[in-house]
Amino acid sequence: MKLFLDSAITDEIKQGLEYWDLDGLTTNPKHIKNSGKPFLKAIEEIAELFAGTEKPVSVEVNPHITDWNQIVEEGVKLAKMSPNFVIKVGASEEGFKAIRELSQQGIRTNATLIFSVAQAWHAARAGASFISPFLGWKETYGDSATTFLIEVAEMLERHEYKSEIIAAAIRNGRQIADAAIAGAHCVTAGLTVYQESMQNPYTVHGEKVFQSAWDATPHE
Ligand code: E4P
Repeated sequence: MKLFLDSAITDEIKQGLEYWDLDGLTTNPKHIKNSGKPFLKAIEEIAELFAGTEKPVSVEVNPHITDWNQIVEEGVKLAKMSPNFVIKVGASEEGFKAIRELSQQGIRTNATLIFSVAQAWHAARAGASFISPFLGWKETYGDSATTFLIEVAEMLERHEYKSEIIAAAIRNGRQIADAAIAGAHCVTAGLTVYQESMQNPYTVHGEKVFQSAWDATPHE
């Protein structure tokens, strides 16, 4: 399962690239806002960080645009800015039509805000390169994210769709594990979620036990 960072903050992206050799990046309008930079400057700087790699970087079209023609127009402009850019489009009838058009033009897309298997199926049929089920949001509202993800993965596999699942809106290590077990191709989460998923209080305790043993052992 590929590791994507969900962020538009350049220091976080640099750290993720250096420490974990990120496989890709996902952004959204909220992350761009949190970067504190104007949209174009933020995505240009991100493009530079990934230049020369084949790593996908999802950039979302203006979420106010609801007409497929305009989504395509904006998507084409964004795709010209960097070969790494994957155009993130919200799930809707107009969005799926835009995904179909973009994919016919050879532009990679990420169908975002996916909350049902039917939406995932529409995205896959339209030729989305990536499909992003929002697991954390599902769980917040009491739905089983794991069952959902297993069903999306099974639907794609059974019908041999090429779209890759990005398990998104991940809040903790358990959800990372669930995504991997369910067969997600990629997972995207914030920096701290990954950092926390590398830790465990038993590991800290174990290190102390071993340090005490080390100190109580003659070394010559
Ligand atoms: C995925 O591509 C989204 O950017 C993301 O996971 C959104 O959810 P969150 O900001 O609530 O984590």
